[in-house]
Amino acid sequence: MHYRLILFLIILFSCTNKKSDNQQWPVSGGSHANIRYAGISQINTTNVHLLTPAWEFHTGDADTVNHSQIQCNPLVIDGMLYGTTPEMKLFAIDAATGKQQWIFNPFDSVDVGNVSFFIMNNCRGISYWTDGANDKRILYTAGSYLHCINANDGTIMKSFGDNGKVDLHAGLGRDVSLLFITATSPGTVYKDLIILGSRVDEGPAAAPGHIRAFNVKTGKQEWIFHTIPEPGEPGHETWDNPNAYQKIGGANNWSGMSLDEARGIVYVPTGSASFDFYGGRRTGNNLYADCLLALEAATGKYIWHFQNIHHDVWDRDLPTAPALVTVMHDGKKTDAVAQPTKTGFVYLLDRVSGKPLFPVEEKAVPFDTELKGEKLSQTQPVPTLPKPFARQVFTEADINNLLPDSSREEIRKRWMGYRKDHMFAPPSKQGTIVFPGFDGGAEWGGPAFDPESGLLYVNANEMPWVLTMVDKPLAPKKENYLEAGNRIYQQQCLACHGSDKKGTGNYPSLDSVKIKYTPSTLLTLINSGRRMMPSFRHLSDEVKNAVAAVLLDDKTSAKKLFPPQPVDTFLQLPYGITGYNKFLSKEGYPAISPPWGTLNAIDLNTGDIAWKIPLGEYPEFSKKGIITGTENYGGPVVTAGGIVFIAATRDSKIRAFDKKNGKLLWEYMLPAPGFATPAVYSLNGKQYLVIACGGGKLGTKSGDSYIAFSLPE
Ligand code: HEC
Repeated sequence: MHYRLILFLIILFSCTNKKSDNQQWPVSGGSHANIRYAGISQINTTNVHLLTPAWEFHTGDADTVNHSQIQCNPLVIDGMLYGTTPEMKLFAIDAATGKQQWIFNPFDSVDVGNVSFFIMNNCRGISYWTDGANDKRILYTAGSYLHCINANDGTIMKSFGDNGKVDLHAGLGRDVSLLFITATSPGTVYKDLIILGSRVDEGPAAAPGHIRAFNVKTGKQEWIFHTIPEPGEPGHETWDNPNAYQKIGGANNWSGMSLDEARGIVYVPTGSASFDFYGGRRTGNNLYADCLLALEAATGKYIWHFQNIHHDVWDRDLPTAPALVTVMHDGKKTDAVAQPTKTGFVYLLDRVSGKPLFPVEEKAVPFDTELKGEKLSQTQPVPTLPKPFARQVFTEADINNLLPDSSREEIRKRWMGYRKDHMFAPPSKQGTIVFPGFDGGAEWGGPAFDPESGLLYVNANEMPWVLTMVDKPLAPKKENYLEAGNRIYQQQCLACHGSDKKGTGNYPSLDSVKIKYTPSTLLTLINSGRRMMPSFRHLSDEVKNAVAAVLLDDKTSAKKLFPPQPVDTFLQLPYGITGYNKFLSKEGYPAISPPWGTLNAIDLNTGDIAWKIPLGEYPEFSKKGIITGTENYGGPVVTAGGIVFIAATRDSKIRAFDKKNGKLLWEYMLPAPGFATPAVYSLNGKQYLVIACGGGKLGTKSGDSYIAFSLPE
């Protein structure tokens, strides 16, 4: 009897002990430091090839026609896994079995009359807060609302904001009620605050990207930091027009932030000011656009900033939350912040002072521009180290060497006609090669950092894009509905959907609009936006009706006279762009030689690239033994088991690499591409790797599942 009791106690103890050994993934990015590191090694270099699916959870709401996506890095807390679905529902499942516990549908919480204005945004992560007892909350942004949900049962936390949600339009200090605002990245929880950035329009009419903190219990806005400073605030002098702050938007943090909890400092990367490609209304260096900001987490008080692009006209937003790292520098352990960029640089700054650890030089760049009213910066800050992780100019020798001579010649002719002298070549009407492109270099998947070795893992795209500026049509005194619709299309829609409506870059063709939409469903979409399409609610009904009439080829309203519209001359810009065009061969391959996507290990102690491999395959080339890499979205995770896990490629694979040398150790064909960052956790003695398989980007099929892998019993 006695003996049995002792045995029972031993078993009980080892069980509870196991439970406390559970490795959680409690914050998007693994931790507030955003280093995507899991300090567990049950799955390691010797056994990773044995990984098999442990469970698959189907959300059941993929939209394959409209290329829905899941970009969410899920959370794993107390045995539960929390994530979002293609339709922005929030769910909780058992992290060991994938069995659903509850699901919350944000559509339920908006007024029926307003449903047409619900914005279907992308969601790259969610946030968790607890009082340490039974009050557990998930906060996430769906549409333009920050929602607060009870993590225990998926019910709405009614005491938060307005019946469980806060409208992000409010509290920005100017009326943006009709402008587009959402958040694709999760807020950062610090004590009882959630600190939140935003995604806003990239066009002329954009909300400002001020950073805000809300009380997690009440939803009250506790502080705001003006990323576009007002008169009297430092940085205001970097805008030549002292009133620009009233109308210019952007300078927003769409890519998430990192938190040094002990120091109480939040690190906030920002994007370009609006409009992205013509800065004639915002000449000057434009603080705090394209900056890494260090703010006091409790108050939003400014500590330091580092601007990586002055007066950005290339959409070179800082694309990811930085990694908070500790490196060996000049023989000393140094707390630093590593900020990867779309341009292929990593800026390594001292975490407390913001001073670069490796010198950053202001280098002369071309600044001659034909665009009236534009004034470009004559220098840009270039780090001497770490070495760039992507090619930064597209030379003649780089023309795609896998193509037949006739295609190469055709590319060479187009290449000759473009501006391409520099990675900061000014936007031009002849077309300027933007390389690294609009989607990096680095993108929103973010880096992983291995504290054992000091290696930073960054996946990158190497896709050249062509930026072509065009004159924008002005409204004539008299026009009919179809003429007006065509003009408005050129002003508002062409930048993404192209002059022929066939789509550009990752933006879709409008060919099937006539079949898919009625006047009312089309208006709903124009008002709400969907995923990467912003909302156009701020346009007048006549304007929206006119553009809808054009897209639907509505002959009856063709002759109707279009009434003159009030114009805001400050926001009516003389130039637009012809689209987000990738520089592709006629066969549809990148105009540049591979690699088109890479995974890089950067030694932050020395600044050297430790290794670099192409990431992803095109079967037609890999058959011949050529691994080209593919465009990729979503980031890596590194583990104490010696592995870097990453999906992200358009070929639908998830892969495991040896973190020391980049050797491929395992790969698995997912049901749809995993354009997301995995999470790694352990539960009851078992280690898991989980990834959202939402597909949908790069023309791939959409998926509706999260898959977890583990070692066989
Ligand atoms: C910033 C880029 C951007 C701009 C500007 C833009 N769109 Fe879109 N549009 C998109 C994206 C991205 C999608 C795909 C949305 C999704 O994921 O479902 C889309 C989808 C659409 C669709 C649905 C197509 C289909 O087959 O279902 C219509 C219609 C549309 N856009 C019309 C417009 C109109 C009209 C305008 C101008 C008033 C406009 N768009 C401006 C990016 C843009």
